[in-house]
Amino acid sequence: MCGIVGYTGRQDAAPLLLEGLRKLEYRGYDSAGIAVENDGRLRMVKASGHIDRLEEKTHGGADLPGCCGIGHTRWATHGAPTDVNAHPHMSNDGKFAIVHNGIIENYSALREELRGKGFVFQSETDTEVIVHLLDMYYQGDLKEAVMRTAARLEGSYALGVVCADVPGTLCAIKMASPLILGVGIGENYFASDVTALVSHTKNVIYLEDGEFAELTPESITVYDVAGRPVSHSISRIVWDVEAAEKGGYDHFMLKEIMEQPRAMKAAIEPRIRSGRIVLDDFDDAFKVCFDDVHRIVITACGSAYHAGCVGRTMIEALCRTPVEVDVASELRYRDPIIDDHTLLIAVSQSGETADTIAAIREGKNRGAKVLAIVNVVGSTIAKLSDYVLYTWAGPEIAVATTKGYTTQIAVLSLLAVWMADRRGLLTPERYSELTGGILDLPERTQRAIDLNPQVAYLAERYRDNTSLFFIGRNLDYAVCLEASLKLKEISYIHSEAYAADELKHGTIALIDEGRLVVALACCEALFDKTMSNIKEVKARGAKVLAVTHEGGRRVFAEADDVLFVPVTDPLLAAIPEIVPLQLFAYYVARANGCDIDKPRNLAKSVTVE
Ligand code: F6R
Repeated sequence: MCGIVGYTGRQDAAPLLLEGLRKLEYRGYDSAGIAVENDGRLRMVKASGHIDRLEEKTHGGADLPGCCGIGHTRWATHGAPTDVNAHPHMSNDGKFAIVHNGIIENYSALREELRGKGFVFQSETDTEVIVHLLDMYYQGDLKEAVMRTAARLEGSYALGVVCADVPGTLCAIKMASPLILGVGIGENYFASDVTALVSHTKNVIYLEDGEFAELTPESITVYDVAGRPVSHSISRIVWDVEAAEKGGYDHFMLKEIMEQPRAMKAAIEPRIRSGRIVLDDFDDAFKVCFDDVHRIVITACGSAYHAGCVGRTMIEALCRTPVEVDVASELRYRDPIIDDHTLLIAVSQSGETADTIAAIREGKNRGAKVLAIVNVVGSTIAKLSDYVLYTWAGPEIAVATTKGYTTQIAVLSLLAVWMADRRGLLTPERYSELTGGILDLPERTQRAIDLNPQVAYLAERYRDNTSLFFIGRNLDYAVCLEASLKLKEISYIHSEAYAADELKHGTIALIDEGRLVVALACCEALFDKTMSNIKEVKARGAKVLAVTHEGGRRVFAEADDVLFVPVTDPLLAAIPEIVPLQLFAYYVARANGCDIDKPRNLAKSVTVE
């Protein structure tokens, strides 16, 4: 939630800040603002709405000359998305401006204290207390003021500060929110995410929690929580600028759907060598840990939770170890049964989801070892976990995840086979069948993408539905959960995912003439059962769009329309099966004129609980 960026160098800061904010807009897009220091004076402009409005209001940044500044794009938590509540926030005397990503939990008490000392608040935000604290603690030493301020804050923050008294200098400090420093030549940056930096520099420093950095055009100095200088190695971003651009597609979401075969290859191929799964990311310690595991708990939010549901079926089927999947925000509050024989698998694209982080902490406190399946390198979840498997999907910019989700399933499938093999549960024939099937997933995904024109046609035909159902059994049901979420979040059309047989325990009352039911029938063993459920809704007037594999031609007898996805091993069917439904959501949303990459009320990474 929220993106921050800062620049100090020799170029005009404002256009660079606006460019950086555009790259971070996926993190929040209800309002934005920038503040620039020029000759020891700060100027600030804020605007509600998308970055375009800020760009117009500042004439592309030309209204704010100066080579040092900070910017923010917001997803409102405390206070409506108005100009006043937008960041930056300035001190009463105009000496400090700050941008903040995170939540200050003790802001009410701080606000009362500061009001009592005469500070005047302009906004309803939690953030504004920070700038008044800075003002209160500043006695000519910016570093000291920032550190004393940070010591008063409870909650999470990635904070950028500019001060009129110290021209050309930025301060940045973080606690449980992402913050990355970009190392340039004669210029330096900070940002919430490398996407805002990569067109300027590929050299970055990942700050640790509690660390504080002072940036000038020529230097970056990092201090630990006690104010002692610490040295940091510089990491190199491995992907190119184009990976974070639309590359000719109308939307990032469509581009990312199309990128799935490539992303899948990156996740899978390096991990299968000479027919054997090699999880290089692990050391022998994981093998020892896994041999002591009696139970697995998968935790995640949203689509990552849906990937976890697919993972449960795969692991239980192959590894015969009990697996529980729980939404992270629920897991931590229900006194979960987790002990030192539990493996907690946390799944997250961003690696910054607050509830997933909290669930990991809960699991660790109870003795579990934590394995993270994460896309963003150096993210909080990656750092917090005992073992990490990266999904290598590359940057995912569209708010609705696509390649993030499918690569999570690809990695879970590798893990399921690895675990089953470690437990000695697979014959050599089954092992090579499964690894062969996993290696074929990029090609199967491409063939599913080739359904694009047919899906676009069907989306046009069904775009006017106001409420619909996705039904399926077993793995098909897990895929229904994701298909339904995709449609809801970008097209705003109500839909529900139902275990196909469960429908008749009440919800079938909603099936009426012309109601669209999307029936997923790729589970071969349950195909005839799903056919019966299709007949039940047809008998009540529903229109049925079926998704099945090439062997399921008899679905024609019942369905109004059919999408045939490529055949895979039944345990691996989720990936090709979701692809046409991602496209379906995309084309329905597009036909209905929705803002696909920035759906209303959403943000890409949910860093608040
Ligand atoms: C939906 C979507 C969200 C995320 C969820 C978890 O398209 O993207 O449901 O899956 O917010 O995010 P991560 O995977 O970053 O932890």
